[in-house]
Amino acid sequence: MTDIRATDLTLEEKASLTSGASFWYTKPLDRVGLPAIMVTDGPHGLRKQREGGDHLGMGDSVPATCFPPAVGLGSSWDVDLIDRVGQALGVETSIENVAVLLGPGINIKRSPLCGRNFEYFSEDPIVSGVLGAALVRGIQSQGVGASLKHFAANNQEEDRMRVSSDVDPRPLREIYLRGFERVVKDAQPWTVMCAYNKINGVYASEDPWLLTQVLRDDWGFEGLVVSDWGAVNDRVKGLPAGLDLEMPSSNGATDRQLVAAVQEGTLDEAALDVAAQRVIDLVEKAQAGAGRVEGPLDVDAHHALAREAAGRSVVLLRNQDGVLPLRRDAKLAVVGAFAEKPRYQGAGSSMINPTRLDDALTAIRAAATGDVAYAAGFSVAPGATDAEQAALRDEAVATASGADTVVLFLGLPARIESEGYDRTDIDLPVEQLALLDALLEVTPNVVVVLSNGGVVALPFSDRVPAILEAWLLGQAGGSATADVLFGDVNPSGKLTETIPVRLSDTPAYLDFPGEFGHVRYGEGLFVGYRWYDARNLEVAYPFGHGLSYTTFAYGEASAAVDLGGDVVVTVPVTNTGAVAGREVVQVYTSLSGSAVQRPQRELKAFASVALEPGETVEVTLTVRREDLAYWDTRVDRWVVEGGEYVVEAAASSRDIRSSATVEVAGDEVVLPLSRESSMGEVIAHPVAGPIIQAAIAQMMQGMEGVADIMPEGVDPTAMMASFPFGRISMMAGDAASPEMIDGLIAMANAGGAPQA
Ligand code: BGC
Repeated sequence: MTDIRATDLTLEEKASLTSGASFWYTKPLDRVGLPAIMVTDGPHGLRKQREGGDHLGMGDSVPATCFPPAVGLGSSWDVDLIDRVGQALGVETSIENVAVLLGPGINIKRSPLCGRNFEYFSEDPIVSGVLGAALVRGIQSQGVGASLKHFAANNQEEDRMRVSSDVDPRPLREIYLRGFERVVKDAQPWTVMCAYNKINGVYASEDPWLLTQVLRDDWGFEGLVVSDWGAVNDRVKGLPAGLDLEMPSSNGATDRQLVAAVQEGTLDEAALDVAAQRVIDLVEKAQAGAGRVEGPLDVDAHHALAREAAGRSVVLLRNQDGVLPLRRDAKLAVVGAFAEKPRYQGAGSSMINPTRLDDALTAIRAAATGDVAYAAGFSVAPGATDAEQAALRDEAVATASGADTVVLFLGLPARIESEGYDRTDIDLPVEQLALLDALLEVTPNVVVVLSNGGVVALPFSDRVPAILEAWLLGQAGGSATADVLFGDVNPSGKLTETIPVRLSDTPAYLDFPGEFGHVRYGEGLFVGYRWYDARNLEVAYPFGHGLSYTTFAYGEASAAVDLGGDVVVTVPVTNTGAVAGREVVQVYTSLSGSAVQRPQRELKAFASVALEPGETVEVTLTVRREDLAYWDTRVDRWVVEGGEYVVEAAASSRDIRSSATVEVAGDEVVLPLSRESSMGEVIAHPVAGPIIQAAIAQMMQGMEGVADIMPEGVDPTAMMASFPFGRISMMAGDAASPEMIDGLIAMANAGGAPQA
């Protein structure tokens, strides 16, 4: 390990370190023996381009295990599983001599239309944060780094490189930043990747509030901030804001800008020292971790893990009369092109070149003992004509008639969901819906398996006995789907995003994707289930929903505050069915009568528990005190409001099984007073309040007549509550002169006021 100090380097050398040498490499500095390191995508596998890859960075890459993208993996809600997948990713990264894997992406699924939702975990920040931290921990346990992306408020692809996400402070902190905060604090990713977009008018890549004040000063981030590829707008502005490394290469252009700015005195050289030192530190960290894992890769072991993870990602949405699991000797008709040619990942920078690829048709045939017929049923080719679709449909109907069960693979053609653009609807293609209708005319036993990276509307939900949401499951998704269909794996995935009835019900419907360079996050805090609950809207399947081949009973929940101030929730959960299974236990909290606007319930903790038939486990979940806090815009900080919280143990956001209450002590908030403060705020102030109350009482004594004419029950103090303090001299005359008011404000603000 070297010990290179940025302050010992020349100005040009320092500047050169802060931008890439090429698409994937940092610049070496031979004079001091600093090597280049490679960073590359990510997130659900290693996308390492072969030497001499194309300049767009999209070309042929070395084979790597394609694990389920976040949309699938997240549905497991399983921290240990995701940690293990992270370790496997770290192993592959290390074997290939890559220093940093560019992931995970933990942006909130604000709208189901976002083209990149398949790369993100959830509509909920606790799910995104906890699972993102697990992946980072796993990756970094192998001596390589992760890159937490895209920081922040990058929730659409439309105009992604310029659009300003206009978000109010509370939703920004409580929804869009909370997950990032969690990962930074819990897992210290080696790098954070700043997003392309602006936040409230400022590019993320040059926002000192975001990259320094929030990320470093508030959260204690110790690593390096890298730009998303091409996210730098103004390098000279970005560097002092906290953007350490620009990627990819600017061919030296922005390095020269930095040098010139220092020479002209418009950029403080100390800021360049800091950024260059962070690059050096990252390279040294990578050197220390390099070679931790020796190749060759155990392809079989990682494929087996990919299969396990994929099985755990499947969500059983519906299963009437136990139609699933399938009998092995049943006469099956498999219909749908995705059974033969799986959709297993989304398009864009995260595309992995898999080491192998399982398809469901082969896996079903291997697992079944009876006949398995197959028909494609539809074509996903862009130019397929109606006549071609009709012919495929007829063929499928013929194949299906006579089968005991039809397993129908429906889903979104690959071109519909990709990085770089959004969807315009959430519908399955019409030919697929027509195929389903035609099949239901010959048999009611149609089990639907869905392949999609973003949620789709399910207007047929009540007409089919079973639906498996099989997302995009990575390279072993085909065999994992067969595992679930036949019951070799008992499904345990749950939805990390609501499936709405229709697009027009969704929270961001009227504010997506914005116009003229701005997208207003008008739904505020009410993202995902928070919205559907607040509006009392029917949903197709709620956040947190997922069935199993067994059933679970919840006992009585209890909750208590521990010594550290966290709320510890316990609830006994029993497997009441005949097979082993896993249940994802969820904890939601709420506070009625809150002083601030709040969603009806918010997820605060969860656990995935394995249970043998008949087994009961006392599940313990911890709600961190900081997760009860709301962002108080008056004092610009987190505040836990005191009161009696309702704590719910639930099988989904709309399947609450047991609840308890717990008294939580609040943080004290003392607002500085001013002439603009309301009388209510002054009365509530610990120093000024008693003084002003005494004065009011005295005044009221002299105004007995007024009290007589007031209707019974009307409280004159409440009437005055919103009156600005600075203006009361207009009412009170000499009893409260402007000098007296200013004096009281100064006294209250100067001291005596206990700090929160
Ligand atoms: C994506 C990032 C990715 C980078 C490098 C960007 O376009 O937004 O997620 O890591 O390219 O491929």
